[in-house]
Amino acid sequence: MGKPIYYSDKFLNSSLEKLKEIISVKFSERQPLCFLHSFGCQQNVSDGEKIKEMLSRAGYGFTDAAENADLIIYNTCAVRENAEDRVFGAIGNLKHLKEYRPDTIIGICGCMAQQEKICEKIRSTYRQVDIVFGTYAYKDLFDMLCDVLDKRKRVFNISENSDELCEELTQLRDDKVKASVPIMYGCNNFCTYCIVPYVRGRERSREFTAVVSEVKELVKQGYKEIMLLGQNVNSYSFGFSNLLREIDKIDGHFRVRFMSSHPKDASYELIDTIIESKHISKQLHLPVQAGSDRILSLMNRRYTVSDYMKIINYAREKYPDFCFSTDIIVGFPGESYEEFLMTKKLLKEVGYYNVFSFVYSKRTGTKAALMVDNISDKEKGQWLRELLLEQRETAQRINDKFLGITKEILVDGFSTSHPEYLCGKTDEGIIVEFKGDKCLIGEFINVKITKSMNWALLGELA
Ligand code: 5AD
Ligand code: SF4
Repeated sequence: MGKPIYYSDKFLNSSLEKLKEIISVKFSERQPLCFLHSFGCQQNVSDGEKIKEMLSRAGYGFTDAAENADLIIYNTCAVRENAEDRVFGAIGNLKHLKEYRPDTIIGICGCMAQQEKICEKIRSTYRQVDIVFGTYAYKDLFDMLCDVLDKRKRVFNISENSDELCEELTQLRDDKVKASVPIMYGCNNFCTYCIVPYVRGRERSREFTAVVSEVKELVKQGYKEIMLLGQNVNSYSFGFSNLLREIDKIDGHFRVRFMSSHPKDASYELIDTIIESKHISKQLHLPVQAGSDRILSLMNRRYTVSDYMKIINYAREKYPDFCFSTDIIVGFPGESYEEFLMTKKLLKEVGYYNVFSFVYSKRTGTKAALMVDNISDKEKGQWLRELLLEQRETAQRINDKFLGITKEILVDGFSTSHPEYLCGKTDEGIIVEFKGDKCLIGEFINVKITKSMNWALLGELA
């Protein structure tokens, strides 16, 4: 792995001053506003928060209404085709807005923008878009905005640079309770279905001390849940278990979670570290993807079901309540119904408290895109529904175990399904809804579980 290059604050300052000047002339009467929406995973949301930090340094404020914004940015996801379709729909809707507010600047960035064919499609078909920039180009944001604002140029920037990392750039976080902290970028694994290594480049780990200091600072600021992020945190260059142990030494009442872990790199040491820690949630998101060794091999996952089960069983032997969640792909090219049933069987065997399941989506440029895919969309849809039904039963079984028990939860906010209820999460990550005062948001509290459903628990203040 190449040694990362760390930027100094300089890059933030050079074109920043120029941009500020342009903005002060163009917006002499009021503060310019930005609407930024991130699609996709938490890593992408975290990138979006970095962009917001840069924009706020340049003088932008933020709005939740795209129609009021001077700058609209869609930070996109490329993992599945339906994510891309949603973005094209959103860009299409901006055509009218641009007609009656021609000065609005529209930017498309992130994983989807990083693909050349998408960049070209936007260049030729979506004339309302002013800036397209990929996952390596955040450092050029001030320059790009100068070009668009001053010279009214369209900018397309998707050049790759896998050696660069910026430690100086913090995130403008919307949430005051939970904070995500990226520890590495990129992925080296090349699972055959996945576009991520192509749009985010090779793995680059952040410096150990920089990560620890950032977590310390967040805890000092009062954040209660820290989510460490990476495509495969287990291959963090400076030892992931070491990092967890160091973070665990930080004083305060807070939780640490992380995602994602590749099962081929999840070690007994990792499980021991989690179990022995004070702050790390006794829970692991361990994407298995499929329950058949043949499909796992075609996916280039580099573990078998039996390797995977060894980690699960080791954790459960040492800590019986250890909770697992997973990702599943249904309908990988060539998968038979019998092989799908093996995935269903695995789900039952492990007893996940949460499963994120997706129908396989062909991604041009990946190896799987060249494999023969002879399962109809209808069939894949049926398999997915079958899997969801199975998981509902498992989740109900797991949740029933909590009935009558008092659990510590971190209160997140209001419930979306019952607005008169607050909601929070247990250490395992299970949603608990209860009646309480909104001043409890952001606090750890004890709740007695009174009812169990397959998607959440109901409780009352203990
Ligand atoms: N089709 C469907 N699901 C995919 N994922 C990644 N690539 C694809 C694809 N081409 C899923 C995997 C991964 C999660 C983040 O997204 O399950 O773990
Ligand atoms: Fe994609 Fe596999 Fe890398 Fe995850 S580990 S980002 S699924 S290539």
